[in-house]
Amino acid sequence: MQPHALQTLIKNGSYINGQWQASQHTFDVNNPATGELVARVADATKDDALAAIEAADMAFKSWSKTTAAERASLLRKWFNLMIEHADTLGHLLTLEQGKPVAEAIGEIKYGAAYVEWFAEEAKRVYGDTIPGPSPDKRVVVIKQPVGVVTAITPWNFPNAMIARKAAAALAAGCTFVVRPASETPLSALAMAELAEQAGIPAGVLNIVTGTQASDIGKVLTQHPRVAKFTFTGSTGVGKTLIAQCADGVKKVSMELGGNAPFIVFDDADIDAAVDGVIVSKYRNAGQTCVCTNRIYVHDSVHDQFVEKLITKVSALKVGNGLDEGVNIGPLIHQKAVQGVKRLLDDSVEQGAKVVFGGAPQDGSNFFAPTVVTGVTQQMPLAVDEIFGPVSAILRFNEESEVIAQANDSEYGLAAYFYSRDIGRVWRVAEQLEFGMVGINEGAISNAAAPFGGVKQSGNGREGSKYGLEDYLEIKYLCMGGI
Ligand code: SIN
Repeated sequence: MQPHALQTLIKNGSYINGQWQASQHTFDVNNPATGELVARVADATKDDALAAIEAADMAFKSWSKTTAAERASLLRKWFNLMIEHADTLGHLLTLEQGKPVAEAIGEIKYGAAYVEWFAEEAKRVYGDTIPGPSPDKRVVVIKQPVGVVTAITPWNFPNAMIARKAAAALAAGCTFVVRPASETPLSALAMAELAEQAGIPAGVLNIVTGTQASDIGKVLTQHPRVAKFTFTGSTGVGKTLIAQCADGVKKVSMELGGNAPFIVFDDADIDAAVDGVIVSKYRNAGQTCVCTNRIYVHDSVHDQFVEKLITKVSALKVGNGLDEGVNIGPLIHQKAVQGVKRLLDDSVEQGAKVVFGGAPQDGSNFFAPTVVTGVTQQMPLAVDEIFGPVSAILRFNEESEVIAQANDSEYGLAAYFYSRDIGRVWRVAEQLEFGMVGINEGAISNAAAPFGGVKQSGNGREGSKYGLEDYLEIKYLCMGGI
């Protein structure tokens, strides 16, 4: 990767109405692996957020009138540029977020896949005709873009979480304003640079970078010209944002916290289940909403499962994501490290046993991949979202018991289970109260599938043929006098 290529994609200010904006103040973006400064970025104010919404509102007038084919072609160009620059974008993502560079490039391709997907879906927004209630009436349903969409996105997927919202919005004919997490604004700004190169018109995609989360958040959720607000992040923050949207009765879609159960039945292929945990638990150092959180293992296979898991976990290399062969990068910051440590320490105090790993490296953001046994349903590691590389293992005996335990959570995003019994596969899949279920599979995320949760994990779906619906309004036309 050429240093020059990286420099051309590092931008230092918000992107509003096709212009790069400086601000009176800046904030630092630091590499979580080394603490080094990556860039100083303009710290936008609520006035910048207002300007971005006004630009998006103005741009909506023309963007919503483009043909689906025109939007598809621009999105396709954006996708092509993301793929062309995947290595550089991945490198930049590792610098600000920490994940291993191969995984970061994987995220760029994952994000780009949503852009490609929605470039294609843009052309498939079909309406309906419905038999009329009387001979002189005809009933027709059309779909129209909702309008200006605003978003707040997290630091764990600085590219893909923007891509799957923005691409759907733009494909539907909406315009878009996003505030990326202040830990990781650079990937978002690089996406805007490529969107501009792709020819996406000024005002259609706007990025507001800033640390004043509450002030900017209020504008994004309460501005009268905003039709829809979408958020990926914690359930706590999501509730506040939903409440802020309530007054204007905005359309909302929320992708919030998870607490994914991972069930290993006695008839499972144990090696496959161990591989499934490695993929679903240790991806992004455990910092994803769909990460496995509670691993329920049948009593009869518990010990062999734990042994095999430790063998695989001990092979994971922790380090700076830019170094060769690293599988686990740093956590995003010290607060995150301390949060994981607290859940671990409190569970150990209640009787859980660390059988591998178990500690952050002093003062750094690195947390050793860890395996803990003897976890019970009420321990913090089972109740809370861990968001770190800790496998918490519980034992069970009965199918009905483990389904009840898996469902005993306020969250309902992802669940996983391993079994080779086809009857059990259907029974369990149907009873799990989660939006996504991996069956003999730990990697469930892809652009063609509907991503989203139930209960306090949120609402709406992203990606897939369902993902456009949240950005479209249904209008019914009743034609009389025929
Ligand atoms: C998330 O952690 O919110 C997203 C994970 C994914 O898209 O797989």
